[in-house]
Amino acid sequence: EGEQQIRLTVNGVEHALNVTPNAVLLDVLRDRLMLTGTKKGCDQGQCGACTLLVNDTAINSCLSLAVSHDGDEITTIEGLSKGDELHPVQAAFWEHDAYQCGYCTSGQIMSAVAILKDDNIGRDDASVREAMSGNICRCGAYKNILAAVQDARG
Ligand code: FES
Repeated sequence: EGEQQIRLTVNGVEHALNVTPNAVLLDVLRDRLMLTGTKKGCDQGQCGACTLLVNDTAINSCLSLAVSHDGDEITTIEGLSKGDELHPVQAAFWEHDAYQCGYCTSGQIMSAVAILKDDNIGRDDASVREAMSGNICRCGAYKNILAAVQDARG
């Protein structure tokens, strides 16, 4: 089956990649670009572990074909820190112990980063909970996750 060349800018670095039409964005990032910070949980769009930003919007990368992102700007968890300096959302998760096993954490953080960029989301806890509802934490660290997101929003 024919491969197609696409260009993805990932964490500020442009990549030209040949991919099959059915290649999934999550797999391309993990297996071709070795960016394994984005996790595969359910692989069905239900857990949020694979969340990343496409042009500043949070998406589930397990449900998205790589070919549909030709020319897009993608940010993964690896692209958040600046040198030794954590992104404010990462720092808040650290301070609030907002994880237990950590498997869902990069997806949680990417959703939170999208919330910080979206002025339409209310500042109350219920609005944040609703906006984060696509990110499942099997350890149940929700209380600390909420506190971290609210702290990062300032
Ligand atoms: Fe994509 Fe669960 S792995 S939503």
